[in-house]
Amino acid sequence: MTSSVNAMTQGNKDDSKLIMPTGEIAQFPILDGTLGPSVIDIRSLYGSTGSFTYDPAFTSTASCESKITFIDGDKGVLLHRGYPIEQLAEQSNFLEVCYLLLEGELPTQENYKSFYDNIIQHSMVHEQIRNFYSGFRRDAHPMATMVGVVGALSAFYHDSLDIHDPRQREIASHRLIAKMPTIAAMAYKYSVGQPFVYPDNALGYAENFLHMMFSLPCEKYKVNPVTASALDKILILHADHEQNASTSTVRLAGSSGANPFACIAAGIACLWGPAHGGANEAVLNMLREIGHKDRIPEYIKKAKDKNDPFRLMGFGHRVYKNYDPRAQVLRKACHEVLNELGHKNEPLLDLAKELEKIALEDPYFVEKKLYPNVDFYSGIIFQAMGIPSSMFTVLFALARTVGWIAQWKEMIEDPQMKIGRPRQLYTGYGPRDFVPLNKR
Ligand code: CMC
Repeated sequence: MTSSVNAMTQGNKDDSKLIMPTGEIAQFPILDGTLGPSVIDIRSLYGSTGSFTYDPAFTSTASCESKITFIDGDKGVLLHRGYPIEQLAEQSNFLEVCYLLLEGELPTQENYKSFYDNIIQHSMVHEQIRNFYSGFRRDAHPMATMVGVVGALSAFYHDSLDIHDPRQREIASHRLIAKMPTIAAMAYKYSVGQPFVYPDNALGYAENFLHMMFSLPCEKYKVNPVTASALDKILILHADHEQNASTSTVRLAGSSGANPFACIAAGIACLWGPAHGGANEAVLNMLREIGHKDRIPEYIKKAKDKNDPFRLMGFGHRVYKNYDPRAQVLRKACHEVLNELGHKNEPLLDLAKELEKIALEDPYFVEKKLYPNVDFYSGIIFQAMGIPSSMFTVLFALARTVGWIAQWKEMIEDPQMKIGRPRQLYTGYGPRDFVPLNKR
């Protein structure tokens, strides 16, 4: 069965027409956004033609309307509420970006103070949450622990589970942003067998996380301001990225009316995959495995070999067909941070730069428009900060929590929200009669 889409001609120029194999013509409005490609609104397709569209990995499908983040993948542009990511990374701070993503505008000084105070108030977790950690093996991946503990929050904060109450939604959002650093640092402390460290609300958001990661009861960790400011920048760069896999997971989970803690746990589970947030850990493992510049050609060859599952980690993106703007900022930050922290001659950074140079000149990567993505340089900075590689994706989750919440909130506040329910192209058996076990 074939059909053709004619988006411009016939009748109203603002409509698209689908010519079905029967000759029947179905007409669909074209909706324009403020930026980016228009979309063909096919919501009436099934009702009018009895057919579904088929787009398994959503390569051509807009799953929602959103006002939060815009990406132009061809030009390498990323805007949050209209503000370019480069400006936010240079001039803003993570909590201000959180406010921007959630509320739609930059905060006034007064707004910022009250938002900051709210977040600070929620930085501790219920004391019994500590017990959850001891149920995990010490060698569990911290992302596995995160999925469990964040999911468990809904068992502790019953007063913020009513998704139809705007105040409860707000409290749940603030709790999640405030508690993620605490929960993440606890996952790390548990994995290394050290006691948990309580948050210190006199410290800034990134500083507090570093304090909870590295302080000991017998020795307080002195947070290096260079490290704290680099971490804050990394958090900004990871805060949101429109309808990526984990965000779409959060939206789909939330569309059933599930509570926000459960939705964010689902997002964390999705983010962990190596094709998504798990790539930052995979990049460092890959660089360590390559080990020396002389071995780069061997790995480039493997990445191009269709019979080898190996991919160059930290390269390529579904949307960016140009340099990921976040990777540009990180590449620069990487040099600054490493210099300031005294890692001037970090061999992994040299190796990464050489790998990037060779890949960007290779016809395979050029033709497929494969550029470094946000995960390519972040691991090198994390490593210089003393953060173990198993925590890299946890930091991504910590930063992305605000994006997930902002997107979840936008969806819940949309009066047209319905449960998400994709359809399928069924290719299994037709109806057949059951054969009892003794006759098979
Ligand atoms: N190394 C080698 N070849 C690649 C790579 C890579 N990193 N990425 C894509 N390709 C090839 C792929 O084999 C395919 O070739 P062909 O057309 O001949 O079959 C072509 O490029 C298109 O790739 P795709 O898998 O169809 O593209 P996608 O949009 O489905 O996948 C991606 C995007 C990010 C999953 C993929 O580029 C990838 O696996 N990259 C490595 C993992 C990574 O760095 N992930 C982090 C993504 S950014 C942060 C985030 O989202 O969390």
